[in-house]
Amino acid sequence: MSTAMIYAEFAARECRDVSPAYESLSVAVSRDREMIARLDALPPAKRQPNLLFAAVRFLDGPVTDPRAFLDFTAERWPDVAAEMLARATQTNEVGRCALLLPVLAELPQPLALLEVGASAGLNLFPDRYAYQYGEVRLGHGEPLLDCALTGRRPPTRHPEVVWRAGLDLHPRDITDPADRRWLESLIWPEHDHRRERLRAAARIAAADPPLLVEGDLVDDLPALAERAPQDATLVVFHSSVLYQVPDARRKTFADLVRDLPGHWIAIENPTVFEYDNLPNPPDETLYNVLALDGRPLAWCRPHGQGMVWF
Ligand SMILES: C[S@@+](CC[C@H](N)C(=O)[O-])C[C@H]1O[C@@H](n2cnc3c(N)ncnc32)[C@H](O)[C@@H]1O
Repeated sequence: MSTAMIYAEFAARECRDVSPAYESLSVAVSRDREMIARLDALPPAKRQPNLLFAAVRFLDGPVTDPRAFLDFTAERWPDVAAEMLARATQTNEVGRCALLLPVLAELPQPLALLEVGASAGLNLFPDRYAYQYGEVRLGHGEPLLDCALTGRRPPTRHPEVVWRAGLDLHPRDITDPADRRWLESLIWPEHDHRRERLRAAARIAAADPPLLVEGDLVDDLPALAERAPQDATLVVFHSSVLYQVPDARRKTFADLVRDLPGHWIAIENPTVFEYDNLPNPPDETLYNVLALDGRPLAWCRPHGQGMVWF
């Protein structure tokens, strides 16, 4: 897909009704030949809309007025490109815990959680967050994760987590001001609720830091999994990670994780794995697929704002 198409599609499928600012920036970029030429000079993995917009925000550039954004980006391109090359899309979206919870709550307890592509590890605390599924609230305090759930009953309990560990090529340290600033830059401009819940989750993680290991999801998974306690159910999970991993490597990862004891939860773009007989998604916007042990179960909105059980 051309870079212009990637931006046009991002506007239509991910930003419409979710972020008017990013929708208009994406459309403007898709129509600006010079901007597209600059992006095309970067490696393909570095051309993503989220990465460009976060880099500009990190540099305190304007992200609400498309003209001001294009001018800033043209003027400051060496700085913008340097940030894009040095950094990666590592959005740590705790809202995705609301997607994990219905599955985690039904597995044999207690759980040993191992997240691959964990970023700062904030999704390793699904047992400490509060949830709102329509009328039903589970837990109290902050962050409160709101998820429109259809097709099944909301979970009625938190999981019991006795071990938590994350693996990432570049683990982020939520207590480090620069890492924190990058994670906040990755949150879309209008999404104050996401910024607030990142901060609330950061307080929980900072008070009880999870084990975060720098490594690759294929090469370093077995050694980390071996450190999990034997008397808990090992759950390897990941969300919005495998789109960053080459196709052949995804297959190797899937074979590897299937051979581990315990369970495997994936929340990924439907193009990442070829599932048989997926029902049609609820509408034209982007949905990820939640799967347990390779069996697809639900369509999920990318930031955990809703899920439709099959
Ligand atoms: C978009 S972030 C998602 C973070 C987290 N899963 C969430 O949902 O909030 C993707 C993460 O996957 C990590 N990642 C990408 N390729 C990886 C690999 N081969 N091994 C380990 N981590 C990887 C990135 O560094 C990044 O932190």
